[in-house]
Amino acid sequence: MPILQLSPRLNKISTDILAGFVLVCGVLFSVPAFGSTLSSWISTQEPQSEAFMLADISRDDAAKGSVVAAPKQTIDYYYHWVRDAGLTIDVVVGLYAHATDENDKANYFQILSDYVDFSTRIQQSQNKSGNPWDTGPGEPKFNVDGSDYADRWGRPQNDGPAIRASGLIRLAHLMIDQGQMDWVQAHLYQSTESAATLLKNDLEFVAHHWGDPSYDLWEEVVGTHFYTRMVQRRAMIEGAELADRMGDSGAAANYRSQAQQIEQQLANHWDDQKDYLVASLNVDPNDARYNSKDGLDVAVVLGVLHGTALHHDPSTATADEVLFSVVDDRIILTAEKLRETFQSIYPVNSEGTGLAPGIGRYPNDTYDGVSSHSHGNPWFLATNAFAELYYRTANVIAQKRSVQVTPTFAYWVGQLSQGSQVGLQQNETLTSSDPKFAQLLSVIRLNGDEFLKRTQYHSTSDGGLSEEFNYQTGYMQGAENLTWSHASLITAVWARSNQQ
Ligand code: NOJ
Ligand code: NOJ
Repeated sequence: MPILQLSPRLNKISTDILAGFVLVCGVLFSVPAFGSTLSSWISTQEPQSEAFMLADISRDDAAKGSVVAAPKQTIDYYYHWVRDAGLTIDVVVGLYAHATDENDKANYFQILSDYVDFSTRIQQSQNKSGNPWDTGPGEPKFNVDGSDYADRWGRPQNDGPAIRASGLIRLAHLMIDQGQMDWVQAHLYQSTESAATLLKNDLEFVAHHWGDPSYDLWEEVVGTHFYTRMVQRRAMIEGAELADRMGDSGAAANYRSQAQQIEQQLANHWDDQKDYLVASLNVDPNDARYNSKDGLDVAVVLGVLHGTALHHDPSTATADEVLFSVVDDRIILTAEKLRETFQSIYPVNSEGTGLAPGIGRYPNDTYDGVSSHSHGNPWFLATNAFAELYYRTANVIAQKRSVQVTPTFAYWVGQLSQGSQVGLQQNETLTSSDPKFAQLLSVIRLNGDEFLKRTQYHSTSDGGLSEEFNYQTGYMQGAENLTWSHASLITAVWARSNQQ
């Protein structure tokens, strides 16, 4: 068993004690934790992550269809967050789409159908963010029995309904393909707005309120956010395609036009001086938290992962969708700046060989998983996101069978392990017949693997993944078995094998 793997019990030992312990055991702890190759680790970790993730849906003491952010009742993550739940359910839709066993398929469908019922209930509630037909869908979290969360919170968070919509759109297409149009009309989509079907209502909410300021995905900053706008744009693009399929052509035209307007706003996030995309705009100039990170935030990478449209009919994709895709120079530069920054600010990133750095939310984060007045750490979901970003980049290039080697692209590849060996020439167009093409793809994938190896290095052998791992000691901390940590592992692994 790899030496660094600890029992989950140990995660709770205070960082101070651990720091001392690590000093004493320095020799032991510098041994890399590779008892197995990455592929064999994945073959045990992926089913473990799936089991942890599924166990957080419809828990015994929670309403059917609710998804807790993490399974321990004693910490303040035992709630249904619309964002975390939406990202989790998106994975369940993928499992449903790929299931070959009839029993598995029926089980996944039950989960999805319960989630649809639960979400309809909370979406239709009158809550502290407003009324169901107006701003209420922006309410970020609910009690696990489906009742409103009544305390103060960073509300609204308008990414939630857009994320939920994208998962449901994929489900709607699958159901229609299986001849279940009636189910879709009864539960997800009726063009008459007064019918208040879940998906239609989310799409209308996005179409009417994407321009409103809201809290960001970290629940800290009020403004307009790259992440939020990316998932909103995706909901509008995919929503238009589904609306057409539902015979709701007026709505389809409106959603398309909203998507274009959102895209224009997204362009404003590019900062010429900084040379990266800033996470938020229209922030209160006195917001010390936002100012301290200088706009640099992994939210931009998550935005491209969660905000890239999945088309039921690929021929409906438009040329515009290359903008803010994984091969957009602006995304590449932002991701590279994040990687370099986190490499240098977290000492744990100099531990281990052949590992990419653990990635945090943003530099100067002061949240440690419990206290907001502490020191930020690398997060599993952010580290896995980098693996997924690299795999998806390779997949997109492979699918296009060519890549334009812009100076930015050449710079990025030059920074990768073994990247300089590819011998890219600036401004060349590399096509799949060139031997360098296959070499480029394998280098990008190898570098994606190095991020998953970082996750492997800090995980436990029971497959446990907390929210974070300590920036100095590498021990897990924050919410144990964060549902989203597991979901992000699964989507990264799927991207590794070019699956969705
Ligand atoms: C502060 C954290 O930064 C934020 O992300 C979190 O959601 C809240 N505290 C609540 O735990
Ligand atoms: C804190 C994170 O910042 C936020 O994005 C998440 O929704 C909650 N934790 C719950 O996992």
